[in-house]
Amino acid sequence: MQPIMTTILAIESSCDDTSAAVLRDQRVLSNVIASQKVHEQYGGVVPELASRAHQQNIIPVVDTALRQAGIDKAEIDAVAFTRGPGLLGSLLVGVSFAKSFATALGKPLIEVNHLQAHVLSHFIKVENGERRSENKAAAPGQSSTLHSPLSTPSFPFICLLVSGGHTQILLLHDHFDIEVLGTTIDDAAGEAIDKAAKIMDLGYPGGPIIDRLAKEGNPDAFQFATPHIAGYNYSFSGIKTSFLYFLRDRLKEDPDFIEHHKADLCASIQHTIVSFLLKKVERAALDHHVRQVAIAGGVSANSLLRSELQRICHKHGWHAFIPPFSFCTDNAAMVASAAYFKYQRGDFADIALPPYTRGER
Ligand code: KG4
Ligand code: ZN
Repeated sequence: MQPIMTTILAIESSCDDTSAAVLRDQRVLSNVIASQKVHEQYGGVVPELASRAHQQNIIPVVDTALRQAGIDKAEIDAVAFTRGPGLLGSLLVGVSFAKSFATALGKPLIEVNHLQAHVLSHFIKVENGERRSENKAAAPGQSSTLHSPLSTPSFPFICLLVSGGHTQILLLHDHFDIEVLGTTIDDAAGEAIDKAAKIMDLGYPGGPIIDRLAKEGNPDAFQFATPHIAGYNYSFSGIKTSFLYFLRDRLKEDPDFIEHHKADLCASIQHTIVSFLLKKVERAALDHHVRQVAIAGGVSANSLLRSELQRICHKHGWHAFIPPFSFCTDNAAMVASAAYFKYQRGDFADIALPPYTRGER
């Protein structure tokens, strides 16, 4: 007898990426992402433009995802969507589309929390080589044995969720039993990196640009103070301000200071933020006697964060779980991954559910 397989179509539209994915039993059949370039000229996401772009993108993106997956619509068992948190106008496009599509197919709906989706991306089944080669690329010279031979984490594990909107240290007891150990009290780490890039006029989003330029720079060239925040919480607004004031003073002496020291500035601010992030993650894992540590969210694409997590885990004999690049920034495969576990539990959503913009449900 053939085993019963679960095929999920998922939609992600919480911010400025329109994405649709098809996963069958946690294996990716397709994961299509349309990134919106329109925001670059404004140096940040413009909500009204984002929702308009989602409206333009959603049908072609879903159509491409279904075609790339090579499946017929009738094979879909459930339609999943990101319900929140995110931008209301953006969420509404994906939520409405998912509801209409599920209704037309006569299939159940599954609502997914965007933050949980980032974390549960670690349960997507990828070829072992894919994880290993990506990790190897992130940490040149380090042996691939530094990375876990396990393909997915087991409970309990700690996950640092770092994106443009969120920075949290999470302790996962189960897929949906997630304890928030620490959180940022102001800006998110990605937001701080993007603002540093904006101060230097590097372009948007700044994270990947700083990552690239930092490779040529000295991380110890400049020191930026990190705040003393209790427990596992973070604060990034002070780092951003000290970076701004430092540059303002230097620019008075040398108007081309940024141009002359771009790589060192990128390497130093990146090093400051990554060290601050991982110091608390290491503490949390030690305090909770957890030996598996994961990273998720857009900033988990950062090459220094990836290699430093591997180094710390290697030092303690822990397993590091580092997502392939395609699952770091916003994507619908992670939404389908979270939905898979809800499907197993029969946890389906009511058609009347509205999106939510904030909160950690
Ligand atoms: O998860 P994500 O796509 O969207 C949110 O849910 O916020 O994360 C976007 C964030 C942006 O701040 C972006 O600059 C950052 O992830 N990011 C990076 C890198 N790639 C993306 N930050 C540092 N290094 C990178 N390589
Ligand atoms: Zn995200």
